[in-house]
Amino acid sequence: MFSSRTDWDFRSSPLFSLVLQKRARGEEIIDLTESNPTRCGFRYQPDHLITQSALWNSVSYEPDPKGLILARQAIADWYERQQISVDPSRIILSSGTSEAYSHLLRLLCNVGENIAVPKPGYPLLEYLCRLNDVDCQQYRLDYDGEWHIDLPSLAGILSPNTKALVLVHPNNPTGSFVKLEEREHILTVSEKQSIPLVVDEVFSAFPFEEDARRAWSFAGTQNTLTFTLNGLSKLVGLPQLKLAWIVVSGPEELCTSALQRLEVIADTFLSVGTPVQLSLETLLSDPAAMSEQILDRARSNYEGLPEVFTQGSPVSIFRCEGAWTAVLRLPATRTDEEWAQELLQVHGILTHPGLLFDIDLNSCIVVSLLPEPKIFSESMKRILTAVRH
Ligand SMILES: Cc1ncc(COP(=O)(O)O)c(C=O)c1O
Repeated sequence: MFSSRTDWDFRSSPLFSLVLQKRARGEEIIDLTESNPTRCGFRYQPDHLITQSALWNSVSYEPDPKGLILARQAIADWYERQQISVDPSRIILSSGTSEAYSHLLRLLCNVGENIAVPKPGYPLLEYLCRLNDVDCQQYRLDYDGEWHIDLPSLAGILSPNTKALVLVHPNNPTGSFVKLEEREHILTVSEKQSIPLVVDEVFSAFPFEEDARRAWSFAGTQNTLTFTLNGLSKLVGLPQLKLAWIVVSGPEELCTSALQRLEVIADTFLSVGTPVQLSLETLLSDPAAMSEQILDRARSNYEGLPEVFTQGSPVSIFRCEGAWTAVLRLPATRTDEEWAQELLQVHGILTHPGLLFDIDLNSCIVVSLLPEPKIFSESMKRILTAVRH
């Protein structure tokens, strides 16, 4: 009766079963998989939320499939303040980055064609591909003290069937930004092979330090068709507002065709609420008021790691340039799944096994950098104790 694309394995993983058992017994769990900023004790200001007047002005419904011009102008102004010129007519709103990806898969791919995505990477991409009958081909990120895009591995998976190359800038969970050198190479490849770029910049407001080698936003890319994604869920820590956007840039003719088609896709759903669109100018007037708070937390949790996992410690820290997660390597005496289970069972700490993000180095776990510092540092100490035992 149901489509094969929804034939998922619905059995709980052993780790999730353990979470359910512990919760049923009322046991305390420190959740280091928490990626919802609204549950992490940040101070939200009233003007970060939808204003009364936006609600009141939403009483009349005048939808624009691309999003209200007022909202698109607010996004263009936000880019302008970063010295990136974006024409509001080249912006399309969506209810989230996930929806934006989905629209782009519908725009670019026929059934059975593929897109190139990073590995390690964000697991949702695989689900989105499957739901859209598109194959996911992974190119590698390699680690040698920092993460790099493995360019030969990327070249190896691109084929005439590849309809988009996805860059996550910075990537989840590695926290690695695309470097200028990588950007140059990828732009050349993309132009030569006519493969559009999809660049997910949802974590771009969270770099831990300056780095002159880092590529800037792709929203101003001119030579190749590029779709740059961003949105409120990370930028102002408000995923529940459900507003994200796609900036279309590149050669004029391709942009015009892409926008025409995207407008029809967006018109089929009209998914973004009016109140949030009317509030966007306020929300984007000073996003740093929120993002700095989150950045300070993530950075200080990350920078505190070497105090716990000192040199020679059995836990090593992967270098992270920004975003909301850190990758830790535990001793190879157990697999990542076994470590995650033991940390939860014995020490009450919930972490993601690395394999969830396709980290194939075994024995790696991924922890969220959002928890409050006291909780975070306490749980790192517990992880060290667990590993020493
Ligand atoms: C890299 C990346 N892109 C996109 C998203 C989804 O964002 P949104 O809430 O806008 O759908 C996430 C969520 O964690 C993410 O990690």
